[in-house]
Amino acid sequence: MNIFIFGGTGDLAARKLLPALYRHHKANRLPDNLKIIGIGSRPLSKEEYSDFINANLKEHLNNKEVSEILIDSFIKTVDYLQIDFNNPEGFESLTSPRLESKRRLYYLAVSPSFYTTINENLNKHKLINKDSAIVVEKPIGEDLESSIKINRSLASYFDENQIFRIDHYLGKEAVQNLLALRFGNILFEKIWSNIAIDHVQITVAETLGLENRGSYYDQTGAIKDMLQNHLLQILCLVSMEPPTSINSESIRDEKLKVLRSLRPLTEEAIREHCVIGQYKDGAINGNAKCSYIDESGVSDNSKTETFISLKVLIDNWRWSGVPFFLRTGKRMSEKRSEIVVQFKEVPHNIFDSAQKQKNNQLIIQLQPEESIKLKIMIKEPSASGFKLRELPLDLFFNEYYEDDHLDAYERLLLDAIERKSSLFMRRDEVEESWHFIDQLIESIQTSSLKLEKYNAGSWGPSSSDLLIAGHESQWNNDE
Ligand code: BG6
Repeated sequence: MNIFIFGGTGDLAARKLLPALYRHHKANRLPDNLKIIGIGSRPLSKEEYSDFINANLKEHLNNKEVSEILIDSFIKTVDYLQIDFNNPEGFESLTSPRLESKRRLYYLAVSPSFYTTINENLNKHKLINKDSAIVVEKPIGEDLESSIKINRSLASYFDENQIFRIDHYLGKEAVQNLLALRFGNILFEKIWSNIAIDHVQITVAETLGLENRGSYYDQTGAIKDMLQNHLLQILCLVSMEPPTSINSESIRDEKLKVLRSLRPLTEEAIREHCVIGQYKDGAINGNAKCSYIDESGVSDNSKTETFISLKVLIDNWRWSGVPFFLRTGKRMSEKRSEIVVQFKEVPHNIFDSAQKQKNNQLIIQLQPEESIKLKIMIKEPSASGFKLRELPLDLFFNEYYEDDHLDAYERLLLDAIERKSSLFMRRDEVEESWHFIDQLIESIQTSSLKLEKYNAGSWGPSSSDLLIAGHESQWNNDE
């Protein structure tokens, strides 16, 4: 089998793909006779590409993962080809007999603007057959129309089961664990609805800024970079109906139904239920951070949002009346991805009425630590009265599993090699989420929603707190 990485000298290949493939090589998980061919526009010799891989593996792997012998044997499986993606003749080199293999996996770690050209050129040289597969990165397009074009182009050369659309959040162990939590336990499913749930919060907060991706990010913003894919995918897994099996079509069918049930955010709804922000200077853990507009690659008067929070409603029986509060932002107080399920008050309070509150919370933390916390009420030992107190039942995954889980790209690469699609997005899911996002962006524009500034190192604009306060709740910003 051959894996062709278009964008073989790019950031994604250097930071994620090559380290992930090296780890598989180290653990002996790759198919025999696998060849990896990095493809890029830079004129590099095989030796120069080997040096590039060597340097990047050492930079991006933990010390204990590095083994000179294994890096050498890994590099022996890798080759480099210089190809100008726009020049069909360059693809001739991919037909070389030394690359002959029935099974080919093309990984497009390049801007989506190259997807169609690359596919056309592969096809011209008869490099696509029933044993080929293609992996494409998010964002699939920048709106519904462009995503339809990309999907159409992919579909003219590959069958749907040969196309692997990546959302790396789906490869995270913790995200997959959501399926185990919901459908491997009878405990929650019976109350997983408007019967017992007051609201759900989904937070994906980053302390990172733009990390040399200023010009990409300034054209993209938090809505298209994070909400359209990662947050909506998490929302789907939290709220979908139980699939009939773990197979890819059942899961993706259920996610699609959720996306179709999202209530569109109209111009009026936007004013009340959405907050967008952009970071100004501030400090994170005592380190000064510049404002967004001072980042390199960002235009001086940029109106790109680096933060969004919004209230989303799902119009179906299970979730009628239950708001989902979503928020994501760059340069926030801490790196944290979590789902907070807030349960309702007990129907009749037999205790002191002053203690009446929404008592139970299930907090599923995806990052930085994978944990599940269930807050329950207990009686506080005391001589006087019957006082309730909230305490957590904690489950920290790293107490049970140390280093033995795959990182998101390891998982997804392995699944693409083995042709398992359940952790990849299907065409209709991608298009349905763009449908929701296009409508959201249009409403933001027509309502002239204000872009609010927030300090780097904070939890976003204060209006975001008001958004959830309107539901008599607050974001879980606890340490
Ligand atoms: C990517 C976004 O999809 O996800 C980045 O393009 C973001 O802007 C990243 O930083 C966050 O991923 P993770 O795995 O670090 O939470």
